[in-house]
Formats: sequence, structure tokens, C-alpha cells
Amino acid sequence: MDPAGKVALVSGGNSGLGEGAVKHLLAAGASVVSLDLGGDVPAGADFVQCDVSDEASVAAAVSSAIERHGRIDILINNAGVGGIGTIASAEGPGDIADFRRVIGVNLIGAATLAAHAGHAMTRNEPLGPDGERGVIVNTCSIASYEGQEGMGAYTATKSALLALTLVWARDLAKFAIRVNGVAPGFMATPMVAMLPPPFVEELLKGNEFPKRAGTAEDYAAVVDFLIRTPLINGEVIRLDGGARPPARTTWSTS
Ligand SMILES: NC(=O)c1ccc[n+]([C@@H]2O[C@H](COP(=O)([O-])OP(=O)(O)OC[C@H]3O[C@@H](n4cnc5c(N)ncnc54)[C@H](O)[C@@H]3O)[C@@H](O)[C@H]2O)c1
Repeated sequence: MDPAGKVALVSGGNSGLGEGAVKHLLAAGASVVSLDLGGDVPAGADFVQCDVSDEASVAAAVSSAIERHGRIDILINNAGVGGIGTIASAEGPGDIADFRRVIGVNLIGAATLAAHAGHAMTRNEPLGPDGERGVIVNTCSIASYEGQEGMGAYTATKSALLALTLVWARDLAKFAIRVNGVAPGFMATPMVAMLPPPFVEELLKGNEFPKRAGTAEDYAAVVDFLIRTPLINGEVIRLDGGARPPARTTWSTS
């Protein structure tokens, strides 16, 4: 699908990777609605305040985007939060309330948005030679494949999103809606800005090539490719310089 003239929703579009996708899609000629809790809206984008972990908020945001723009062609299912903590320690059980918080945003939030935006897409007129009605891109993670020590909640959500990308592609195929994913490694965004530099250095040393943090532009380029390429469906593309994270870094165990 060519994004030009289409309507795209980007969750978490006011920061980091989502902001990169918003800017890229705007430059490609799409109308873009950022769905976020708050923050600075990228210039040229529309904004609807939305908490993806709350179904009423998602339903209202999707309706509002359709009222303003007439349809939804593209969903970038990107809003997410981090979470650190082992499942148990000598001090006590792991933090299950925090586990629920991360699942609520990263997994239930992504599913809720796919449900509401996906339903809206079923009503679109078929477009182009393949008669496409929509494209969804899920932001997965390197942790979808290799979750490190202390990343249980986050890994649970991102592994689930990896698996759901294929299931949702199967669910929505009859409506000519494709579902793909991107699995970034370490990306320089506000989400990871607080991590100690020695930890980041060690992580990036684990990249094969290039040994650098990814950028929002790197991410947006893959999103663009997945939107435009009709025969890619149910697929998740790693964006991590070949990194395969070990169980733990020396930083986290020191
Ligand atoms: N930065 C990385 O290294 C990295 C690596 C792999 C995957 N990811 C994933 O990429 C996505 C974007 O992360 P980022 O690094 O750009 O982080 P970020 O913190 O810069 O951006 C996340 C955005 O999501 C929004 N958000 C959080 N909770 C929300 C909610 N309940 N409802 C609506 N919006 C909400 C935030 O307000 C923020 O604008 C996340 O899903 C993250 O898990 C990031």
C-alpha cells in the first residue's frame, strides 16, 4: 500500500519510534493521527488523546479519527512501556502489579487497538491491484526472541505480539488486511534514555554490525517497507544489527 493519500494511526506517536513513523508517513503523503497519552505532537500530525490500555478510550479515539479523516488505512501499533524486575528473589516475590501494568499497555493495548482499527478497516473500499483494505504494523522487540534476565513482563508482551502478528494476519486475511511487525534491538529513544551508559555500551557491543543504537529513522524505513510490500504478511522483521542478547549483561549482575 502506498501511504500517499491514506489515513494512518500511530499509537505512541508523540515520542521515539512512533514519532519517527509519524514524520515518515507525513513525508510520504499520508494523513497521520497520533494516539498518545500526551506530549508534543509532531508538526503536521493530528492528535487524539488515548490510553491504549483502556478500551473505552481506544474506541473513542478510533471513532474520532474516522470522524475527522473518514477512514483508517494504516495502524502502527507502537505504544509501549518498559518494565524491569525478576520473577522472584530472596527479598520476596516479583512485582505482579507491575507485570499487569506492562501487559495492560503493551499487549492488551495493542490488541485493543488492532481490534477497533482492524474492524474499521474491514469497511474500507478495496484499493490497488490486490484490493487491499488495510495494513497493521506491530512494534515487537528483540525481547520477542531473547528476553534477558529481569525482562519477564516486557518479554511476555513482546513475544505475544510476535505470535499474534501471524494470528491477526490469518484473522484479517479475508478482509485483505495485512499484519506485520518490526522487532527493534536497542534504539536511542526516551524509553531507554535513563539506562546506564556501561549497560548500553555492553548491549551495543553485542551487535554484529553496525555496532550502534538504532534510530527512529531506521525503524520508520522498515515500517514503510512493510506497508508498501503486498506479499509480506504475518512477518516480523528484526532490526537489531544481528544482535542476539545473552541471558544477562555484566552490568545487571555486578
Ligand atoms: N527503544 C528501544 O530500544 C525499543 C526496542 C524495541 C522495542 N521498542 C518498542 O518500541 C515502542 C516505542 O518505544 P520508544 O522507544 O519509542 O519509547 P518512548 O517512550 O519514546 O515512546 C513510547 C510512547 O508510547 C506512549 N504511551 C505509553 N503508554 C501509553 C498508553 N497507555 N497509551 C497511549 N500511549 C502510550 C508514550 O506516551 C510515548 O509517547 C514500544 O512499544 C517499545 O516497547 C523500543
